[in-house]
Amino acid sequence: MKTIAANWKMHLTLQDAVNLASSINSSSKNEIIIFPPSLYAILIKDIVHKKNIKVGVQNVFYEDSGAYTGEISPIMVKSSNLDYVLIGHSERRIHFFETDEIINKKIKKALSHNLNVILCVGEKLEDRENNRHFEVVKLQLLKALEGVYEFSKIKIAYEPVWAIGTGKNATPQQANEMHHFIKNIIPLHILYGGSVNEYNAKELLSQKYIDGLLIGGASLKSHSFNKIIELAELL
Ligand code: PGA
Repeated sequence: MKTIAANWKMHLTLQDAVNLASSINSSSKNEIIIFPPSLYAILIKDIVHKKNIKVGVQNVFYEDSGAYTGEISPIMVKSSNLDYVLIGHSERRIHFFETDEIINKKIKKALSHNLNVILCVGEKLEDRENNRHFEVVKLQLLKALEGVYEFSKIKIAYEPVWAIGTGKNATPQQANEMHHFIKNIIPLHILYGGSVNEYNAKELLSQKYIDGLLIGGASLKSHSFNKIIELAELL
């Protein structure tokens, strides 16, 4: 089974989000997940649950409740019947200063409420240029998962920062090589993310160690996202 996930980030009006969700096709054999802006998540879940499409949130806090204006907790996500949380996306690390320690706390809290977690890791361009990409990703993984002993609800998304939203995807070989490296550290389901589109999805998905895709820009266009779902169906 492959996982095809849509990260809508901070895009779309409510009406556009409803229209997009309504037009996404289901899959008979793969797992499809949408990560809309959290404000829309319950409504989007209502629209797609009959198509067996799962819905998650792009971020969650590490406390159950309290005076944390603007945050949402894992209990809120769970009680809204949402299935997944993305944790540690590079945009959260860069724009909202999330450290590995914060990410570790979020993962533990989300797991304690039985949520499925997709942990995002990935090196920056300078790390790759200095041949430090394996070391950086390994450290991110070890720190994020420190003190975590139950892995059945965790997936990893490998998203090299230099490939996100740049139109410059990692080559299937680069991605596969990193996925292989990660699987040797921890044998989990690993998604690739970073400038995936309907033209490069098939080759990426055909790699031995690539178990799915996390798609930003191309997931905002129903024809592109549906095409990727269709390609995955035929593999
Ligand atoms: P992109 O984003 O597909 O637009 O590069 C991927 C992501 O950030 O999850």
